[in-house]
Amino acid sequence: MTSRILKITDPTKMLDIDLSRPLEIEVGCGKGKFLAARAAAHPECDFLGIERMLERVRLFDGKCVRGGIENVKILRLEALYTFHYLLPAHHARRVYVFFPDPWPKKKHHSHRLFGPLFLNALWKRLETGGRIEFATDHREYFETVKECFAADARFRETEPMPRPQEVWTEFETMFRSQGLAVYSAAWEALEADDAPLAPLTVPPEAEPREGIARRISKKDREEQS
Ligand SMILES: C[S@@+](CC[C@H](N)C(=O)[O-])C[C@H]1O[C@@H](n2cnc3c(N)ncnc32)[C@H](O)[C@@H]1O
Repeated sequence: MTSRILKITDPTKMLDIDLSRPLEIEVGCGKGKFLAARAAAHPECDFLGIERMLERVRLFDGKCVRGGIENVKILRLEALYTFHYLLPAHHARRVYVFFPDPWPKKKHHSHRLFGPLFLNALWKRLETGGRIEFATDHREYFETVKECFAADARFRETEPMPRPQEVWTEFETMFRSQGLAVYSAAWEALEADDAPLAPLTVPPEAEPREGIARRISKKDREEQS
């Protein structure tokens, strides 16, 4: 029984991806309910789940091992960094981002995943015609993400994939059981000028230093988990 968790010994080296097989990626895959179901239904494709919470990574791994799901790898790492540095160019046929942390307070909006930096790296990793599928329960974040994509000519909005109940994520299952609305959208990557990604820089306020951890209060962190 081999763990599906990728062991990263050098975080500056590209991931070992089999370029002869299609690849689908889920960002913030949590305990992997969606990706495990999708991988079991599509043995012709490889799947990568990116999730930064160790406990969720382990639960997803256990699900794959017990279910004999071989075509999944799980990476415990930050998604923007992974997209920026560790993935092959224009290879992923789909990227899924379901119920990303909405960081509802204005002062925390800079923690949100979607923004020009992520869109740059996302476009670079999707094949031409590859799709990004997005869902959230947070109306304001949904509108903001739609504006972000509308401002980027490298993406065209398209119909979101059907998501029957069997493939709902853990959070989708919870939100729907509470009667909350779910907003979904999808975009296709178009052919465009392929400039190299500029190195990521850390804004001064995010540089690690003593006391930085206190900037996000315990209560705010709990709201996000
Ligand atoms: C609200 S949960 C949703 C989990 C799952 N997608 C679902 O719908 O059940 C958001 C997940 O994204 C993960 N996450 C948030 N930001 C991330 C990042 N930058 N890189 C990797 N994982 C991230 C969190 O740890 C959390 O498990």
